[in-house]
Amino acid sequence: MDWDELMTAAWLTREQAYAPYSGFAVGAAVIAADGRVFTGCNVENLSYGLTNCAERVAIGAAIAAGAREFLALAVVADTQQPISPCGACRQVMAEFKVPRVILANRSEHLEFRLEELLPRALIGILDRVE
Ligand code: THU
Repeated sequence: MDWDELMTAAWLTREQAYAPYSGFAVGAAVIAADGRVFTGCNVENLSYGLTNCAERVAIGAAIAAGAREFLALAVVADTQQPISPCGACRQVMAEFKVPRVILANRSEHLEFRLEELLPRALIGILDRVE
């Protein structure tokens, strides 16, 4: 599949990043099963731990609009290698079963199955017998 449109949406939203502390802007876009695209940028906070990553902002926007099934999420940044999502974002992608993740910088993109980025995410209570 051609993810150009999704990556373009992520690059555009990256321009809105609120990153006064790190100076590192990130954009994300997630496409729902019905074709709707939702975007996010990182939103930092003086209390650093309250920072929201672009991926979770995009997924939150999608959930708030009623989307529940997803095809893919793209995340973009100006990095030497395609950006790599943090563990918290991988777990949130697992929560909503985002099957494909596209990681990009200005010159290349890589496509992963979520299972490759977060193996065995749905163990424990989600996998209980009764
Ligand atoms: N960040 C993201 O938004 N997504 C990622 O995949 C990596 C990190 C943000 C969080 C913080 O605002 C800045 O990048 C530096 O870590």
